Amino acid sequence: MLMFPCEVVAADRALQFQRGWFAHPIFKNGDYPDAMKWQVGNKSELQGLPETRLPSFTEEEKNLIKGTADMFCINHYTTKIVSHLTARLTPPSYKYDMDVSEEEEADSPTTAISNQRAVAWGLRRLLNWIKEEYGDPEIYVTENGVATDIKPQLMTLTESSTPKRSAHYYYHVMKDNGFPLPDDEKILYGQFPKTFNWSTASAAFQIEGSWRAHGKGLSIWDKFAHTPSRVDNSDNGDIACDSYNKIDMDVEVLKKLKVTLYHWDLPLALQKLGGWENETIVQRFRDYADVLFSRFGSRVKFWITLNEPYIVANLGYGYGTFAPGIVGKQYIAAHNLIKAHAEAWHLYNDKYRATQGGLISITINSDWVEPRNLYKQEDVDAAERYLQFFIGWFAHPIFNGDYPELMKTIIRKRSLAAGLPESRLPEFTPDKIKRINGTHDYFGFNHYTTVLSYPVDLGKQQDYEGDRGTGTTHDRTWIESGSSWLKITPFGFRKILKFIKDEYGNPPVYVTENGISERGEVTLNDIHRTHYYENYINQALKATLLDGVDLRGYTAWSLMDNFEWAAGYSERFGLFYVNRSNPTLPRIPKKSASRYSSIITCNGFPDPWTP
Ligand code: NOJ
Repeated sequence: MLMFPCEVVAADRALQFQRGWFAHPIFKNGDYPDAMKWQVGNKSELQGLPETRLPSFTEEEKNLIKGTADMFCINHYTTKIVSHLTARLTPPSYKYDMDVSEEEEADSPTTAISNQRAVAWGLRRLLNWIKEEYGDPEIYVTENGVATDIKPQLMTLTESSTPKRSAHYYYHVMKDNGFPLPDDEKILYGQFPKTFNWSTASAAFQIEGSWRAHGKGLSIWDKFAHTPSRVDNSDNGDIACDSYNKIDMDVEVLKKLKVTLYHWDLPLALQKLGGWENETIVQRFRDYADVLFSRFGSRVKFWITLNEPYIVANLGYGYGTFAPGIVGKQYIAAHNLIKAHAEAWHLYNDKYRATQGGLISITINSDWVEPRNLYKQEDVDAAERYLQFFIGWFAHPIFNGDYPELMKTIIRKRSLAAGLPESRLPEFTPDKIKRINGTHDYFGFNHYTTVLSYPVDLGKQQDYEGDRGTGTTHDRTWIESGSSWLKITPFGFRKILKFIKDEYGNPPVYVTENGISERGEVTLNDIHRTHYYENYINQALKATLLDGVDLRGYTAWSLMDNFEWAAGYSERFGLFYVNRSNPTLPRIPKKSASRYSSIITCNGFPDPWTP
């Protein structure tokens, strides 16, 4: 922010009119602040009045007033941005006497009271101002708080007098007498096992471009991106990062290739037959896998069948915000995705494993979740539903057998209650349950963020949202990223890795994606990404060394800024910046690239104090 001297004087004047009006006589010299006397005196004269409208104290009164406080008590709620203004003369008023105009501090969160933003930094400035102005008095903040208007929460409160989350938070601040760095945020020095695998990821559609080269057919994402209003800024993947032509250069920085069979770009021809809604896709996916397994042969030792089936099903066939943009069909799409994965795994296991000796599994993604109010059972239950409807939906059939009980029970009950003859969640036959269960060589896991959960009753709404009955929100203190859904919450990474260990039989885990976006102004000094990787990877180290999670590898998403699906190129996840205004699309390393590389070289965080 640029500050001009007259604005600084205006800000001080505003403070003198508000705090100084009462504080100055008591804490300084028994009289009003000079700035007030000057302003009101001049204005009064300009208004043709015989004397100033500000009453004056006698010397005796001043002596009486001065020093009549043992401490400085301050009530504080908000901060405004002021600028100098020549205010009108009539009618005479306190407000016009100040000669300032006021604005809200637009970067801070709004509250339920209009014009009263919660400007945390303002309290610090104010305390410093009081210290400087009144000679370092003992200060007591006697009021400070925020108004909210979350109605459902208030209704529950009147019913049961449950403390809000903020009550517990404040209790902890008092108990800890401040903000000691919680143990889970302290850095753990140590290293990953020697065989640990480090990598970076990107995906074909997001970087390749050359959408029509050499007879390539259309995919559902080509169509989606060429449909108006589907992708931000009308971006598309036609050129993307041009990796199709720059393959030699891009591959040079990578040592070993891992291959994902399906990262969302389904051939449009298959979509015309119903895509993932049509059961025949299971056999087609198996045929396609057969082609890749035989062509790549033993050069590929690490296969991922499907990337993030949750997103394919829920965003592509549920909410319709991703290609192919279909709504309300997520359960059947998920059902076929799970079966397709299992068939590809069996194919590899039966026909290729012995000669090629690679690993094959699926990559499942999930947020971690905490109850919005840790002490409220409804929020705790909502968190459990959130997890089972997210990670459990795909992991349970593959690692434990069949859908999670919680999902089966809720969806059946709600379907029957709405008069349907059977559950909207498709059933696996006992044979299918067996065939799917165990189709994994490792747990492929993508993770980015944590949410807070609370119950939501959507009445009879017959869909995934209604079934899950869980709303989500974020903690205001969590640092933001370039994506609205992604807040920096490293602690959740460790917790969900432990959850995977406990819930799915301690499988070997490969983190196949983790990273953070930025948007807007480009800076190569991406400190928030560096901070993100340091903290998330350190939590992964804690999961490994302290919780005994069998973590075998970690992958940063993404190697370079690329086509972030419906957000186009506006959200940038890369360790390398791709300059899109230069037609050669150069890749330029950001600062996080060198930090990530040093973490890899050190295989973690060796103790700097150990010789
Ligand atoms: C998940 C997806 O696999 C990837 O394609 C996407 O770009 C990142 N997460 C970031 O949202």
